[in-house]
Amino acid sequence: MARFDNKVVFLTGGATGIGRATAEAFAREGASVAVCDVAETPAQETVRRITNAGGKAIFIKTNVASAEEIQSAVKTTIEQFGGLHIGINNAGVEGSRDKATHDYDETVFRQVIDVNLTGVFLCMKAQIQAMLTSKTPHHFWGISECRFILPTLPPNTPSWA
Ligand SMILES: NC(=O)c1ccc[n+]([C@@H]2O[C@H](COP(=O)([O-])OP(=O)(O)OC[C@H]3O[C@@H](n4cnc5c(N)ncnc54)[C@H](O)[C@@H]3O)[C@@H](O)[C@H]2O)c1
Repeated sequence: MARFDNKVVFLTGGATGIGRATAEAFAREGASVAVCDVAETPAQETVRRITNAGGKAIFIKTNVASAEEIQSAVKTTIEQFGGLHIGINNAGVEGSRDKATHDYDETVFRQVIDVNLTGVFLCMKAQIQAMLTSKTPHHFWGISECRFILPTLPPNTPSWA
């Protein structure tokens, strides 16, 4: 018996990087994985890699900044896999890496907040509602990033939180 047999994972940002590696690792351990991402082609490649290796995964095109799309993706996950046990809220955008706060574009800032902060909140809200309804034991992972470049530091010195 594998560690996550009969467990269903809802994972955002699974098209690339940490998200793809996490999706593959959970699938190797027996979990069924809903790969939710805006990036269609690479996310489908994640699913292909998992299913080719004998695992279970589906792609659900989802923008984590949209409450409606997340609600719909959670519903589809439960319909396809019969439950939801683990939420991995990993989708994120980097923003403008080298811009100091006083030069930072407001639209880019709002996108970072929408995806990295509001997106995690919206996903957890929908996941918890579904988990409480089905009374399943549940777990969450949050992977996020917040970075500011402070003008008081030497030029281009990033600080992470
Ligand atoms: N790699 C690092 O060194 C590092 C460091 C600190 C934090 N992080 C955080 O870890 C997470 C994963 O990092 P990564 O390096 O694998 O990044 P990545 O850019 O490879 O992956 C991010 C994924 O999120 C998806 N995504 C972006 N916007 C989305 C949206 N609105 N809705 C749904 N999906 C969306 C992208 O398509 C992509 O698949 C991110 O949240 C990132 O901010 C990464």
